[in-house]
Amino acid sequence: MTHTLTTPRLRLRKLQPADAPRMQALCGNLNVSRMLEVVPHPYPDGLAEEWIATRPTAWRDGTLYTFAIEFADEFIGVIGIERQDSGDHAIGYWLGEPWWGQGLMSEAVACAIDFARDELGLEKLVSAYFADNAASGRIQEKYGFRVTGRGRLPSLARGQDVDGVYTVLQLGNTTESAVAP
Ligand SMILES: CC(C)(COP(=O)(O)OP(=O)(O)OC[C@H]1O[C@@H](n2cnc3c(N)ncnc32)[C@H](O)[C@@H]1OP(=O)(O)O)[C@@H](O)C(=O)NCCC(=O)NCCS
Repeated sequence: MTHTLTTPRLRLRKLQPADAPRMQALCGNLNVSRMLEVVPHPYPDGLAEEWIATRPTAWRDGTLYTFAIEFADEFIGVIGIERQDSGDHAIGYWLGEPWWGQGLMSEAVACAIDFARDELGLEKLVSAYFADNAASGRIQEKYGFRVTGRGRLPSLARGQDVDGVYTVLQLGNTTESAVAP
């Protein structure tokens, strides 16, 4: 299975230890972390290094397929697909604020959807976003995610639960994952 994917403007590749300082800087921005469930604010030293170090094992175990997003040879964000305890696979993503509003995450999400369907052989992807995250909701709407429910979701950065929206995208595969866990 390939670890490198390309879109018209982006390269999706494996995370590397050298990405850690930049990840800390970009996710240290509250405008980014407040839209994510498990990223604390302030972003502690060492967290990015620790998180990146667990990626290869998670990929091999089939629990988490994480890609660094590169634009013009710069690391600008992350997109990943995680197998949840329920057996569903959830897609999550973030982009550094300087690159918002150019359609870049739309490109990355389209690519990750293709990867989920064609390489992982998944039948569906689930996701969730905070109700005040219109940009993420719009991306998912564009690619056909359907709202399945609403509820409170934790936000570590905000230090409280926040109204959230649960979604699902049917991928149309009839066989379960082609990748051995
Ligand atoms: C959400 C996020 C990934 C969007 O990335 P992006 O590259 O700016 O998104 P895109 O430009 O590809 O697409 C955003 C879409 O939302 C729309 N949008 C943006 N802000 C909006 C708003 N306030 N209200 C309604 N629509 C909005 C854009 O017009 C665009 O839709 P379009 O293609 O129909 O024009 C980015 O802002 C981010 O990383 N935020 C912090 C982390 C995060 O929210 N992660 C997702 C958690 S679920």
